[in-house]
Amino acid sequence: MDIIEIEGGRELNGTVEISGMKNAALPIIFACILIKDRCVIENLPSAIDVANSLEILSKMGAHVRMINRNTVEIDCTNLEGGSSPYELVSKLRASSYLYGAELGRFKRAYAGLPGGCDFGGTRPIDQHIKGFEALGAKVSTENGYLEAEAPNGLRGTQVFFDFITVGATINIILASVFAKGVTVIDNAAREPHVVDLANFLNTCGANITGAGTDTIKIKGVTSLHGCNYAIIPDMIEAGTYMSAVAATGGRVCISNTIPKHLESISAKLEEIGCEIEEFDDSLIVSRTGPLRKANIKTLPYPGFPTDMHPQTAVVLCMAEGVSFITEGVFETRFRYVDELRKLGAKIEVHGKTAVIEGGHPLTAATMKAVDLRAGAAMVIAGLAVPGQSVITDIHLIERGFEDIVGKLQKLGAVIRRSYRPDEDFIQGKAN
Ligand code: EPZ
Repeated sequence: MDIIEIEGGRELNGTVEISGMKNAALPIIFACILIKDRCVIENLPSAIDVANSLEILSKMGAHVRMINRNTVEIDCTNLEGGSSPYELVSKLRASSYLYGAELGRFKRAYAGLPGGCDFGGTRPIDQHIKGFEALGAKVSTENGYLEAEAPNGLRGTQVFFDFITVGATINIILASVFAKGVTVIDNAAREPHVVDLANFLNTCGANITGAGTDTIKIKGVTSLHGCNYAIIPDMIEAGTYMSAVAATGGRVCISNTIPKHLESISAKLEEIGCEIEEFDDSLIVSRTGPLRKANIKTLPYPGFPTDMHPQTAVVLCMAEGVSFITEGVFETRFRYVDELRKLGAKIEVHGKTAVIEGGHPLTAATMKAVDLRAGAAMVIAGLAVPGQSVITDIHLIERGFEDIVGKLQKLGAVIRRSYRPDEDFIQGKAN
């Protein structure tokens, strides 16, 4: 089994280069289905979810060629709709974007239901379906597949989401790009990656306005052309390294980032005891004094991101006093708590709130990455706690973080990727 081993208790110092944003790269890759031309996408993070998304397009008949580790050439001219491979689709939440892209191009969609991180709750797609039906499609889900058809084509409409949803906002943008007339999405998600998708599509000739606000307008066009496009930096990766510095102490320059995207994270980390200096495309985060307790509620952008929930919980375990984190986006997202308890963390979960009694000394342990962001949180815990920690199931971390071990080594962490036989980790045997 591949593992990460960490000798914790050291400060982090130096500079970390932030990669392209996974959650912007994925919708943009699937958006290429709408474009019967050559696109070159730059600043792609080298991560498993990106590789799997490109593999899906390739298996559907698209031309996909890696120009280098972070740049891909995609041409979907010969892509065949409805032909996505189930075993790959079922691994990714982002594969739900196949529905919107296929519906937009072929007026028909047929693909497996999406997978993605398991937070212990459900991750329905009812709002996606509501939007497709509003556009005039007939939608059914059975035997693990979604099928959508609009034989008379899609027509512009108004879609009012019952609550803010990134995935459904993205999917309705994809489906409505060629619809007849104007589509207005109300209660739209405002995340930077929604804006990045709209910018990509507009560069290819789409007519999308209002992305980044809660009302997005899509005027149908007849076709799109290819383009060269660079993905925005990953705000969650940046926030994760900022949280690592908060937990270990030290001073790190987070370079190739957009401080504006990090406002809620920076504000909360300053409240907790970090100093943050912002520049045009970088920021310096340092923590020299004690950490302070805090209360957090995760919310859609520009609120505090849910994808920063587990990482921040680790920081609050190191802060004197009782802190609270309320999960305001997903039904639940507390599977990381059991892993932190292995270090001696005192955390109780009441409903959607984790109550963290911080400041108790923690001890190094063997932890499991239970999902992508929780896995990164376990890395932060291993870095902050003195002694030898081990993290298993690291493929979940590598789904969305490019070279997390190499980047941390450059910051002075004693961390390495290694291998141990599975039986070493049979319950009770792991040291
Ligand atoms: C995207 O998931 C991200 N995934 C998630 O990041 C992120 O946590 C989430 O947005 C919120 O920002 C990708 O971009 C691939 P939602 P998504 O639709 O689109 C419920 C990571 O670690 N909902 O905004 O699935 C849903 O269950 C991942 O990179 C419905 O009930 O999120 C959730 O409770 C984890 N019905 C809430 O809405 C629907 O039809 C928000 O979901 C759609 C969503």
